[in-house]
Amino acid sequence: MKILIIGSGAREHALCWSVARSERVTEVFVAPGNGGTALMGGKVHNVPLKATALHDLLQFAKDKEIDLTVVGSEQPLELGIVDLFRAAQKLIVGPTKAAARLEASKLFSKEFMDRHGIPTAGYHVFRDAQGANSFIGQQETLYPLVIKASGLCAGKGVFIVSDKGEAQKVIRELFEDRIFGDAANEVVIEEFLQGQEASVFVLTDGLRYRLFLPAQDHKRIGDGDTGKNTGGMGAYAPASLVTPEVMQKVEERIILPTLQGMSEEGYPYTGFLYVGLMINQGEPFVVEYNARLGDPETQVVLPLLKSDFVAALLASVDGTLGDHPFEMHRKSATTVVMASGGYPDHYETGKQITIAEDLAAMEDCLLFHAGTACDGDQLVTAGGRVFSVTALGETLVESIERAYRVVEKISFDGAYYRKDIGKKAL
Ligand code: AMP
Ligand code: GLY
Repeated sequence: MKILIIGSGAREHALCWSVARSERVTEVFVAPGNGGTALMGGKVHNVPLKATALHDLLQFAKDKEIDLTVVGSEQPLELGIVDLFRAAQKLIVGPTKAAARLEASKLFSKEFMDRHGIPTAGYHVFRDAQGANSFIGQQETLYPLVIKASGLCAGKGVFIVSDKGEAQKVIRELFEDRIFGDAANEVVIEEFLQGQEASVFVLTDGLRYRLFLPAQDHKRIGDGDTGKNTGGMGAYAPASLVTPEVMQKVEERIILPTLQGMSEEGYPYTGFLYVGLMINQGEPFVVEYNARLGDPETQVVLPLLKSDFVAALLASVDGTLGDHPFEMHRKSATTVVMASGGYPDHYETGKQITIAEDLAAMEDCLLFHAGTACDGDQLVTAGGRVFSVTALGETLVESIERAYRVVEKISFDGAYYRKDIGKKAL
């Protein structure tokens, strides 16, 4: 069978790697892919189509007789790629446009959680600066506060403010300077949740679901969770803070009511659901939903999946997921993101990358590319996050040490990475 993966990050490289391992898969196409997927060779091919070129992607899927399409990133989902493919009778893993609002509209997701009693931070919604400012100025308003643009802002639409002055500045930027345009026509101001974050991923056919191992991301650029927010600088799994007791609460209070609620309201949720959690003294709260797998968490949860991924994906589109095995390796995985110097602000691209030859022989490690490209025979940097270096181990410590040994085998001018991925769990 032939599979099409949509996207270009390390998450999509990991998706390619995972589906290509399945014996029943004869060809994997990735649109647009990156330097790493280009170098995979064999049955994997890059296709020069943008993830948002929905009609071109559908035409490609028809022309190449693609059996199953898997969407990595959120933009095509918000644009309705799943609706488009389904109308053309092409199998695709992901939520419809209506269901993807769980990620694409924070307003929708907060109101949905309210309707279904799903634990999350208390919130208010504002449609103009005046209303927001009068709330910010109230004496009983407690800081810190979290201010969020409702629409998709590539992960940049969340501000944690510690006083009224900071809050007013953000409100001005959103409503007057319109830094996110229409994505901030609605602004959610919510309570700051204390605790530790974790990510839980679900594959669902609409009602039944399978769980991946819980993971923990590292969103800040600096060691010790300092500095700016990024797309994610590293992750590990399983995240021990999600104990079996916590996971049971997550299933009962969050996952089941989410799937049931979406179904009852007339837009059953299918595909991957990312539940971003804050866990405070064993009690889980939803920080956000995403309509896709996380990056870099995918680079640790997929290598820990023991069962055939493609079989599970197929079961999720034909509604037979409930009968399906979904087993995990009893190991740990860590991924360390190597970024371009300056990321998440300005950075340069086009730097030559050198990878030591003995890396290929290193056991239990997987080098997933993100922002890389092939310039003739030379691999060069082409983005902010450049690699996601994953290693497996019998223990978390072993996987961390191994991942950092691999990182040392890779060099490019200005390479930056956090030195403390996974440390929080030790
Ligand atoms: P989001 O895009 O909604 O995931 O927010 C990005 C990051 O902001 C999250 O991963 C959290 O670290 C932080 N965050 C968002 N909402 C809250 C909240 N209500 N309380 C505390 N931190 C939050
Ligand atoms: N790891 C954060 C995200 O994928 O949104």
